[in-house]
Amino acid sequence: MNNRLCNILNIKSPIISGGMVWCSGWELASEVSNEGGLGLIGAGSMSPDVLREHIQKCKKATKNTFGVNIPLMNSNSPKHIDIVIEENVPVVFTSAGNPSTYTKKLVDNGIKVVHVIANEKFAFKAQEAGVSAVVCEGFEAGGHNGKEETTTLVLVNQLVGKLDIPIIAAGGIATGEQILAMMVIGAEGVQIGSLFAASRESSAHENFKRAVVSAKEGDTMLLLRNLSPTRLLKGNFFDSIKAAEDRGASKEELLNIIGVGKTKIGMFEGNLDEGELEIGQVSSMIDKIISVKDIFNNLRKEYSEAYLRMKSINELI
Ligand SMILES: Cc1cc2nc3c(=O)[nH]c(=O)nc-3n(C[C@H](O)[C@H](O)[C@H](O)COP(=O)(O)O)c2cc1C
Repeated sequence: MNNRLCNILNIKSPIISGGMVWCSGWELASEVSNEGGLGLIGAGSMSPDVLREHIQKCKKATKNTFGVNIPLMNSNSPKHIDIVIEENVPVVFTSAGNPSTYTKKLVDNGIKVVHVIANEKFAFKAQEAGVSAVVCEGFEAGGHNGKEETTTLVLVNQLVGKLDIPIIAAGGIATGEQILAMMVIGAEGVQIGSLFAASRESSAHENFKRAVVSAKEGDTMLLLRNLSPTRLLKGNFFDSIKAAEDRGASKEELLNIIGVGKTKIGMFEGNLDEGELEIGQVSSMIDKIISVKDIFNNLRKEYSEAYLRMKSINELI
């Protein structure tokens, strides 16, 4: 495909694997880039040294463009920013923070910056900060979410035509048909998380991947609405947060229950009983742990078949 986003990011196919704590290491990122998409290394769960190691391994594993996702609320983010500059990483996706903090510094160092937003206000803030594109992440998405609970379908369509920069749709996308639908309403690319979290190349624990492919409709829900809305897979951790919220627990109590390191325990160490499990609504549509190559083949096939079907759809009136 040849569109604005592909040209800006220097990629063949506008499919991005989202940066995901404990899932997006160099194996996943490089394989997505080798398929012609944009693979992102998720810095959110990495110490600065580990991030540098993953970037260097990714450079060896792919000749194509790859990037790094830096969640700005992470206390390591200033060091992560310095490392991506030192390592000449071509693309950085920032999230969970103010887009004006580092965009200029990164752009001045020749890095293309994309920021993840979940509402219109932040979309404009990101554009003003000088990013090249925005990821519009809807309420269906795995992990941290916007307080407005805007769905991907609404968020993307409400911003198309208002922003000057390309829109990347994220949240609830796991098939070629869904990619086509997003492109039809005006997105120029998609960022996919959950589907790649359950891929062979994801660094998540097998127990977590198996839980994702077993998930059924209704098995994920958004909790922690007053703290930092997060879509979680149901289980013990989910139950304890839900029970606390139902009895009106304070923010301090909730922070206590969340504790530290629970995403690592759940998603990386595979302790499904004690750990925090973040995944998107679309997990109900993912039923196999397969390779990134097979994922791309499926997406391409589904997209072309849907594109042909679209041509035979009649006019509305
Ligand atoms: C396990 C998991 C961890 C995630 N971690 C991050 C993260 O560290 N930084 C970030 O910007 N987004 C994170 N996300 C969001 C993804 O990058 C992506 O935007 C989202 O998963 C897209 O929605 P989908 O899950 O419906 O495909 C995470 C998502 C999941 C499922």
